[in-house]
Amino acid sequence: MEGGALTQHRSEAGHTLPGPVSEHERDIDRVLITGEEILATVADLGARITEDYRGKDLLLVGVLKGAFVLMADLSRHIRLPLEFDFMAVSSYGAATQTSGVVRILKDLEQDIEGRDVLLVEDIVDSGLTLNYLLRNLRSRRPASLEVCALLVKAGIQRVALDIRYVGFEIPPEFVVGYGLDFAERFRNLPYIATLKPGVYAEATT
Ligand code: IMP
Repeated sequence: MEGGALTQHRSEAGHTLPGPVSEHERDIDRVLITGEEILATVADLGARITEDYRGKDLLLVGVLKGAFVLMADLSRHIRLPLEFDFMAVSSYGAATQTSGVVRILKDLEQDIEGRDVLLVEDIVDSGLTLNYLLRNLRSRRPASLEVCALLVKAGIQRVALDIRYVGFEIPPEFVVGYGLDFAERFRNLPYIATLKPGVYAEATT
């Protein structure tokens, strides 16, 4: 029995990926980033964050819903005592485009004044959501405020943003998986992919 739980834990940390969800697979056009690539990058980000925040009192703030998968994986690669909090935001606008008007659906549960805060985002597209969140959180006077984003769509941000930890730069296409949805589906795909055009058409008819 000795080491049993640890052995189990190690094999989980060894990134055994689950099988595909067949009902989702037929809607996938192209896999942009495999699950293995994501997990390797998330492990690297966790190692960098561990070094950068050693001796600090780190609070991870996840932006729901999309960041829940990244939060779970990333936090287990940060070898430091951590606290967690979450915000939920919605941006008004069409299904696959942000309007820049952000509404806070769920606010933080704790005061962040004087805390070292790392905001964890799934994807930065126009950057308007992140820009709003950063301004909002800065006004609460944290000791530091940095961003970790798994994906940044290259070259299309409408505001200048300083993102300290970036997983991948991707082309400006709509993607799903690893927490990201289209019409609330596909969040549990272990990889990042584009959808067949017909899937969007179906959703609007
Ligand atoms: P931004 O304000 O344009 O940067 O958009 C940010 C939010 O829009 C993200 O946190 C996602 O919730 C959503 N979003 C933007 N691009 C995508 C995408 O390609 N797939 C899924 N959701 C996206």
